[in-house]
Amino acid sequence: MKIAVFVSGRGTNLKAILDSPKLAGIIEVKAVVSDKAECPAFELAKKNSINIYTVGKKVGFISYEKLQDILFSLKIELIVLAGFLKLIPEELINFYKNRIINIHPALLPSFGGTGMYGINVHKAVFESSAQVSGATVHFVDETYDNGKIIVQKCVDITNVGSPDEIAEKVLKIEHQLLPEAIEKIASGKIKLVNGRVQVLM
Ligand code: GRF
Repeated sequence: MKIAVFVSGRGTNLKAILDSPKLAGIIEVKAVVSDKAECPAFELAKKNSINIYTVGKKVGFISYEKLQDILFSLKIELIVLAGFLKLIPEELINFYKNRIINIHPALLPSFGGTGMYGINVHKAVFESSAQVSGATVHFVDETYDNGKIIVQKCVDITNVGSPDEIAEKVLKIEHQLLPEAIEKIASGKIKLVNGRVQVLM
């Protein structure tokens, strides 16, 4: 399966995808897309000889229409948002209906939505005194962190001392969960039945 990964920053989830033995021979990352002209994730893409594209309205960036054409011509079957901070336009969501997924660093439907990204998520979790957090991979729709949940993994945070500590624990889980989710999708194990995700074993 040919995939595109959308990023805005570090790219540790992109690295987890590229390094995953589970995904070797099953998927191929054909494009890395960012809303930033430069970001560490782009460096990683270049090192792996993956095409990079910068999307948005700024001078020199490509439009979402143009990007859609490129993704189509690259025969991209799945778009993975791995730390991409911008909302995906409706046209692209409809074009790739149920073929765009996102990883969120908390257990949705809690601690998601506008402004809930990066350390903000972990601060909110910390302040709530929640005893567990985790990561969620979900389908993407027109609203932030709102699509159907595909897979989740929990982590115990009973004794953490700071939001940073939660972030560290959750990131480790993200790096396992995202490749697992992609593997399930690529092997046809994820089905949407009557609006509910079914994970076939
Ligand atoms: C991750 O925590 C992901 O869940 C969130 O943004 C962060 C991206 O991290 N959506 P990285 O760029 O993959 O290191």
